[in-house]
Amino acid sequence: MKGLILSGGKGTRLYPLAYTRAKQLIPVANKPVLFRVIEAIRDANIDEIGIVIGDTGPEIREAVGDGAQFGVRITYIPQDAPLGLAHAVKTAHDFLGDERFVMFLGDNVLQGGISPLIADFAHHPEWNSQIVLTAVERPEQYGVAELNGDGRIKRLIEKPKAPPSNLALVGIYMFDHHIFEATDAIKPSFRGELEITDAIQWLIDNGFSVYPHVHTGWWIDTGRPGEMLTANSLVLDELTPTIQGTVDAHSEIDSRVTIEAGAEIVNSVVRGPAIIGRNTRIVNSYIGPFTSIYHDVVIENSEIERSIVLEHSSICHIPARIQDSLIGRHTDVTISALRPKAIKMHLGDHSHLELL
Ligand code: DAU
Repeated sequence: MKGLILSGGKGTRLYPLAYTRAKQLIPVANKPVLFRVIEAIRDANIDEIGIVIGDTGPEIREAVGDGAQFGVRITYIPQDAPLGLAHAVKTAHDFLGDERFVMFLGDNVLQGGISPLIADFAHHPEWNSQIVLTAVERPEQYGVAELNGDGRIKRLIEKPKAPPSNLALVGIYMFDHHIFEATDAIKPSFRGELEITDAIQWLIDNGFSVYPHVHTGWWIDTGRPGEMLTANSLVLDELTPTIQGTVDAHSEIDSRVTIEAGAEIVNSVVRGPAIIGRNTRIVNSYIGPFTSIYHDVVIENSEIERSIVLEHSSICHIPARIQDSLIGRHTDVTISALRPKAIKMHLGDHSHLELL
């Protein structure tokens, strides 16, 4: 089997963070979501992976390279424009050939990986496709499946105004070569995209077998800021802690904290689950649970929790606790007297915020 990761498209919903960076490269628990996707496919014993790229392709190529750092072989597949998930599959036809494949959206994080799903599909060569469903609170934001009484798929609809169920299509799909007949046959949807949902519906309507797997663990489509923080919390909660940096005698860290190489904790308290990145300095500060501080950051005389801080940023002398925040790269946050004392922000890369 081969792997196909979709990392084209535009991260409009994650603006401003995705103005200057591919949304798939924004880290969750200090590791880009795309890296987690590659590792999940590798852990299912698939080592040939194609990545569909768009405008942000150069940045993705630079970060992922030829795949050697993950122990896989990566082929890049440029897509002219983000014309839909089914269009991306069509674009990858030469790479995929006649092989069965798993397609994974490059901005999705799934608890427990995909090895059991891949094994299931491999053991059923008669299945033409397998899709993953999960119960969600706002199904109208996703592709939605309606099942028959016997658990088989009756109908799939992309972002329905009146969802027939709460079962969303998770961004993981398995196909054999018949999917190319479907992607050739369908027409663009109301949003002008060739929808994978319509292609799968075409398979069903034309007598091919599509099996649903209902996922019961967590799953996050990291396409929105709030979801990025949720994904960060869920992944941090499952991280095995390691201490490689230094912690001075005046600091207190609890058992669920990861401190990466070259990081320094000075006269500070870090409560887990949390991760402090490479060469980051935490001085006279409090880092609360569910926080990821990426590499080369300085936090001094400040308090922060349930937040993500990206590389080369600084947060210094902030009198109120920062929480539920996403702070971009090369961002400086300095002192202010603003009320109320909880600070909330979604700052883009290279922002500079001075609070009065
Ligand atoms: O996340 C699950 C949902 O993903 C499913 O429930 C929907 O059925 C499915 O259509 C898809 O919906 P989204 O609107 O969330 O897809 P989005 O445009 O965010 O694209 C998902 C990924 O695919 C993202 O990493 C960008 C990439 N992509 C997207 C398009 C439209 C491409 O590589 N090429 C494209 O043409």
